[in-house]
Amino acid sequence: MNIIRVSIIGFGAVGQGVAEVILKKMDYLRDLNLEIKVVAVVDSRGAEIDTEGIDLAKALERKRSKGTVALVDKTGLDVIKNIEHDVVIETTPTNIDDGGAGLRNMLEAFRQGRDVVTSNKGPLALKYTELVEAANSSGSKFRFEATVGGAMPIINLIKGVLAGNEILSIQGILNGTCNYILTRMLEEEASYEQMLAEAQERGIAETDPTYDVEGIDAACKLVILANSVFGMNATYKDVDVTGISKITPESMILAYNDGYVTKLIGEVRKDLLCVAPRLVPIGHPLSVGDTLNVASVQTDLAGPVTITGRGAGSIETASAILSDLISISRNMNE
Ligand code: HSE
Repeated sequence: MNIIRVSIIGFGAVGQGVAEVILKKMDYLRDLNLEIKVVAVVDSRGAEIDTEGIDLAKALERKRSKGTVALVDKTGLDVIKNIEHDVVIETTPTNIDDGGAGLRNMLEAFRQGRDVVTSNKGPLALKYTELVEAANSSGSKFRFEATVGGAMPIINLIKGVLAGNEILSIQGILNGTCNYILTRMLEEEASYEQMLAEAQERGIAETDPTYDVEGIDAACKLVILANSVFGMNATYKDVDVTGISKITPESMILAYNDGYVTKLIGEVRKDLLCVAPRLVPIGHPLSVGDTLNVASVQTDLAGPVTITGRGAGSIETASAILSDLISISRNMNE
């Protein structure tokens, strides 16, 4: 049995989703000859540490009943520095001002020679090159499929399955909150403010929903694609961004009557990094509704390849993290 020892740093919706999927997939993992042993779980109030492996069902129960997993007064950095393990799963709340705790945790993990799997966009949207250089210089693996499009497998699709293709451009809907708002504005002929409240009830909006509706969250994801797929050295501030807050239901209805839906589209290709509302023909592969994300990749050999999926959600995002973990464990054994 291959054992991979991991910490979960950040035990909010995504961190708890990771614990749930590790529990749920134990038999599946055993069939892969793999045990994912969680040696530490950390939230903002402290940690549980057990080098023999934490009982995740009990950790989840404690988090839900007491509001914290903490049994000892240790931080993420304490765990990353002092507890022997292979992979840091970094799921702390994102910070796009300076990268915050997530950036410090990832850099420390690389200093300690640990691998990192993360859903935390902020550090990558600000300091992608620094993080990749830190990972390379310590021989660590760095996987971040969950940062873009949640469960939608865009990065690993391009780097794995589409290997050999030149990627000419990527266009897509990278923010589920905006897609939900625009879809519902058209259905209900209602203002964006009314539909934002509904989107927040769905639990997918950022803590500060300005990041969603002004296109900043989509810009962060676009920049991660730009840097990881196109080799750019951009930050989200380099993206030309227009949000959806000035769109009226009347303009959407006029467009619809002409055969178009209004979508917030991110586009990256050589010399272009842009997030803006665009008119998409009804029935076009990019015209998905509700909270869905979608990405259409233009390639030189395969032509256009389009994928769609759930861009947010605890278990959905944890799915991408689990996939990255399994992929790292496979490489460990090569
Ligand atoms: N607020 C984001 C969205 C969450 O609506 O897509 C996932 O990054």
